[in-house]
Amino acid sequence: MPRPARPRKKVFVTRAIDISAIERLREAAEVTVWSGELPPPPRALRSALRDVDAVVSMVTDRIDARMIASAPRLRIISNVAVGVDNIDVEAATRAGIAVGHTPGVLTEATADLAFGLLMATARRIAEADRHVRAGKWRTWGPMTMLGRDIHASTLGIIGFGAIGQSMARRAMGFGMHVLYLKRSAGKPVDVLLAGAIGVSLPRLLAQSDYVSMHVPLTAETRQMIGAREFGLMKPGAILINTARGMVVDQAAMVAALKSGRLGGAGLDVTDPEPIARGDQIVRFENVVITPHIGSASIATRKRMASIAADNVLAVFRNRLPRWCVNPKVRLRPFTDAT
Ligand code: DGY
Repeated sequence: MPRPARPRKKVFVTRAIDISAIERLREAAEVTVWSGELPPPPRALRSALRDVDAVVSMVTDRIDARMIASAPRLRIISNVAVGVDNIDVEAATRAGIAVGHTPGVLTEATADLAFGLLMATARRIAEADRHVRAGKWRTWGPMTMLGRDIHASTLGIIGFGAIGQSMARRAMGFGMHVLYLKRSAGKPVDVLLAGAIGVSLPRLLAQSDYVSMHVPLTAETRQMIGAREFGLMKPGAILINTARGMVVDQAAMVAALKSGRLGGAGLDVTDPEPIARGDQIVRFENVVITPHIGSASIATRKRMASIAADNVLAVFRNRLPRWCVNPKVRLRPFTDAT
């Protein structure tokens, strides 16, 4: 008697991602891709997750304990991001669900953008572009759009993991001095970065002309830069944030910008996202805001999608994802009947 065909596995992908990743998933499963330009609303996401084995999610999808509890078949949440603060990882682990992410491949692209924001705020690039487009460029001006030096200034890097270290390499190439705060004992610091100096947070804030955030969002890092820390900064320093909006107390940042204590900010992430058009932070000429595009290069997003697919396919073979946030999870294996 022929063996009954295995039921097809099901995958829900919450946004259109690189097509070759979708095609690879389609070879192994029935794949539904949410086609909206905006993320699926929570109710639509919950309903989609009720009946799938895997979800390929984005930072915009909040997958909390309630959502996980209503997804009985789910075996993997594969986030197309390095950060997983949108997912209740503990609840997933308890439910036997692996959580995959895409570290490594977005390190350089994110550091590129962070350094770009540093340059844009220091040399007023976005503001100068607005000046030209508004027809205000009437002559070369000896005092027009004066910015700050980048070379020979000091960059303080908060969070010295892969992206923080890539930021440091860029800064050193530009002749900057680098201070850093490293919270966890991680990999040894790259030998090329021997000139960078590990310091305490107060010292970093007091001595840096630019402060750049590179920490994940956790209970420990939430609003780690608030009124007190702005008060410790060098007057007129510039803050760069490509990590998560919530690592900075945004109301305190607005107050520091108003008082002039903070000389500017380059933000790829805000709290909340997207930022409202009428939000006070949008009104400052010395703030450059980009819409969370740190990893948004064509090649990087392709690699992220590919890793997210690999992570799903590994779980379909009853293996842990290569990039697994909760490697101690007890995966519920697929059998011939599932
Ligand atoms: C990440 O990877 O965590 C970014 O914020 C999304 O690209």
